[in-house]
Amino acid sequence: MVVMKRKERASALKWFISLGLVVGFVGFLTFHGLELGEAADLSVPGKPLEKAFPNSEKCKRCHLRVFEEWEASAQSRAIVTTPFRVSLDRYLASADTKERGLCFRCHAPHSLDYQHELPRFIKEVQSKDPQIDGVGCPQCHLIKSVDDGSHPPVPQFQLGTTIFGGYEKAAQNLAHQSEKLPLFRQSQFCVTCHERMPESSNTPKSLPDWLGDWKQSKAETSGKPCQSCHMPEALDESANGEKIRKVANHSFPGRFGKVRAEAVQLDFTTTVKGDISEVSVKIDSLVPHNFPLPHPGWSRLVVDLSILGKNLKRVYNEQRFYERVLGGVDGKETVFDFEAKKVLKDTLLKPDESRTEIFTFPTPKDAPSMDVIVTMTYAPLHGPRDFLTQIEQEAPLGSKDRAFQTVQIAHKKVNVSLSK
Ligand code: HEC
Ligand code: HEC
Ligand code: HEC
Ligand code: HEC
Ligand code: HEC
Repeated sequence: MVVMKRKERASALKWFISLGLVVGFVGFLTFHGLELGEAADLSVPGKPLEKAFPNSEKCKRCHLRVFEEWEASAQSRAIVTTPFRVSLDRYLASADTKERGLCFRCHAPHSLDYQHELPRFIKEVQSKDPQIDGVGCPQCHLIKSVDDGSHPPVPQFQLGTTIFGGYEKAAQNLAHQSEKLPLFRQSQFCVTCHERMPESSNTPKSLPDWLGDWKQSKAETSGKPCQSCHMPEALDESANGEKIRKVANHSFPGRFGKVRAEAVQLDFTTTVKGDISEVSVKIDSLVPHNFPLPHPGWSRLVVDLSILGKNLKRVYNEQRFYERVLGGVDGKETVFDFEAKKVLKDTLLKPDESRTEIFTFPTPKDAPSMDVIVTMTYAPLHGPRDFLTQIEQEAPLGSKDRAFQTVQIAHKKVNVSLSK
């Protein structure tokens, strides 16, 4: 039987305590590392991209709700859609060597700090299964400030262990430090990537921006930034296990989200003047920026008038487009804004604009009444035949790709009596 002297016991105890501390410390380091791609390395100069901008999967464990919302959003698809890949190829085919990163500055903004890795980013996109996110969590939450002296503004990243956000007192956690920045509740944060195509040797600076005069809009001047509509507030968990907080929806509702229901107020009146009828459609845009936004260049809305006569047969149809039509070399129309030299036509709804459209058509004959139907939709992708064919061939869902879908914004149907 081994009898320990008092002194020996004390030193064994000390040893055990220090072993415990060491094990604990190593455990802490491992935890730290596993959680966030060795967070401690982030501030080392020349750090690999994967450590500076960890994959959004790394944030998922603690921010499951946010992750799932983001995963369903357009932002998570920033470099994986077929239209993006195909139009990137078109752009690269003619781009100046120094400007090959143009699309990435917004679709994968880590490229700004890792310009020497551009060939790899391009290859990743072309592989159809990029391992690096385009607009993932760190691509937004490492933005420390925005240089709005240039247009489009340039995000300034701080690549350390601090995550920036909008919370007053974020709870401490083992993965990252948190710092509140007013920027995260300001439109300027979003405008960084939503403002305009950068000037390049192909496209002149004089082209108008995408958003229009959003600064003077009712929303902006009454203190409602982009986030108030596109990151709607709710009460939920901020991080798994954290108390119920005011959180911000990360599905970025846009073309496919609920925000659409609040885009316009659409009303019309019908006047029958004998053989000719007239429909006067009033469209009040509730959108505090251009609608639709004209990037990519094929974006457009359709206002469709359909008249159903006897036996609900469609007897008249007319469509008007809200879009920015661009002219490329030789003034020829192009849907590729990266080759635009000038604007040929601009029918975008301006911020908060009210517009009236007058349609005239022959009054349906031999019918007791007619149905007047006005629909406003986001139009499907359009452009040169070979471009559409390539997208259809390469898209996993073919002609069912979401780019080919029309998305309804507003719809109204009225039955008008024709009997005297
Ligand atoms: C200034 C930032 C910025 C630049 C530069 C930029 N984009 Fe975009 N892009 C966006 C934003 C923001 C959207 C979402 C626009 C919307 O829905 O209103 C978008 C949407 C798109 C879409 C439609 C969505 C999709 O993924 O199918 C395509 C295609 C696209 N961009 C291609 C390009 C190409 C190609 C380039 C380079 C020639 C480029 N973009 C350059 C910011 C940018
Ligand atoms: C396009 C930029 C953008 C992307 C991408 C983004 N965020 Fe955010 N996030 C924001 C902004 C802006 C706020 C502040 C919103 C506010 O307070 O109105 C925010 C707020 C938050 C908050 C606090 C509020 C809440 O909803 O819990 C957390 C946590 C968060 N983001 C985590 C993430 C994670 C995790 C990801 C990736 C899955 C992510 N974010 C992707 C811009 C972004
Ligand atoms: C170990 C768990 C954990 C991981 C991993 C983690 N976070 Fe957090 N994060 C938290 C906790 C806890 C909070 C505090 C929540 C609160 O106070 O309500 C938080 C807060 C935040 C906030 C709000 C900060 C502020 O000041 O507004 C943002 C943004 C955020 N995290 C983004 C991220 C991103 C991006 C990643 C991945 C790169 C990530 N988090 C990884 C646990 C984690
Ligand atoms: C780092 C660049 C970047 C920042 C910052 C950014 N976005 Fe985006 N956003 C994009 C890109 C790129 C797309 C298009 C993704 C795609 O479909 O290819 C997009 C798509 C969207 C869409 C969906 C558009 C549609 O057609 O449905 C909305 C809405 C949106 N962003 C709102 C915001 C808001 C609000 C903010 C500020 C909180 C913001 N974005 C900040 C790059 C950015
Ligand atoms: C008052 C609410 C409101 C505010 C504030 C707002 N938007 Fe919108 N936005 C809308 C509505 C409504 C639509 C049209 C329906 C849709 O696509 O969701 C829209 C559409 C969009 C789209 C996608 C559709 C398109 O037309 O291509 C993007 C991207 C977008 N907004 C970005 C922004 C940015 C950036 C800001 C800040 C400068 C902003 N929005 C401010 C309401 C708002």
